[in-house]
Amino acid sequence: MKKIVVLTMLAIALLVVMPATSNAQNGKKCDSAGVILNCIMTRTSIRAYQDKTVEKEKIEKILKAGMAAPSAMNKQPWAFVVVTNKELLTKIGMNLRNAGMTAKAPMAIVVCGDTKKMISGGGKDFWIDDCSAATENILLAAHALGLGAVWTGLYPDVERCNKLVEILGLSDNLVPLNVIPMGYPAQNPAPKDKWKVENIIWK
Ligand SMILES: Cc1cc2nc3c(=O)[nH]c(=O)nc-3n(C[C@H](O)[C@H](O)[C@H](O)COP(=O)(O)O)c2cc1C
Repeated sequence: MKKIVVLTMLAIALLVVMPATSNAQNGKKCDSAGVILNCIMTRTSIRAYQDKTVEKEKIEKILKAGMAAPSAMNKQPWAFVVVTNKELLTKIGMNLRNAGMTAKAPMAIVVCGDTKKMISGGGKDFWIDDCSAATENILLAAHALGLGAVWTGLYPDVERCNKLVEILGLSDNLVPLNVIPMGYPAQNPAPKDKWKVENIIWK
């Protein structure tokens, strides 16, 4: 008799606790809205860096943020090339004029699309959206960690892409979207105010 009572109580307890637990897991909340919005609004492109190494733990956090981005059909068609080799950074900066600041950066991340992981057919070009989302996550994570960075564009400029593939010796399946030189900031530009009501269409 005692056993039945205990079992019944256990079953009731499970029924009560389980939905609450699964709700908590499914509805994971972003509970730092103020901090996150502030990070978005204060990010700005940084093109000058201190001569200071970026810690590996920080780089990994930034890469995790990049990989947390949404992607079409969750294909995650990306690869992130982390460049810390001084010679390679200098070569990138010297050869890609628009990314000259890379020559003096302690590191750079090259966000690439991976043709092996891309959607086939009409949705192929979604890799650009996916890698762009990853790039923005990277820029924000860098800013949140006290680093400065800038998106320097490569794709769809074939000449720039080929140059970078050549410098880094990337495999055929990788298409570089951009180079993100990064480091501790040596400049402190004010974030630009881009709020324009005329850019909004309410329906
Ligand atoms: C697709 C893309 C390509 C860019 N290419 C370059 C570049 O080649 N060199 C550079 O210095 N900045 C580049 N930028 C950074 C922009 O100049 C910068 O984001 C813009 O001026 C707005 O400034 P903010 O990032 O400080 O808000 C690029 C940004 C994007 C999104």
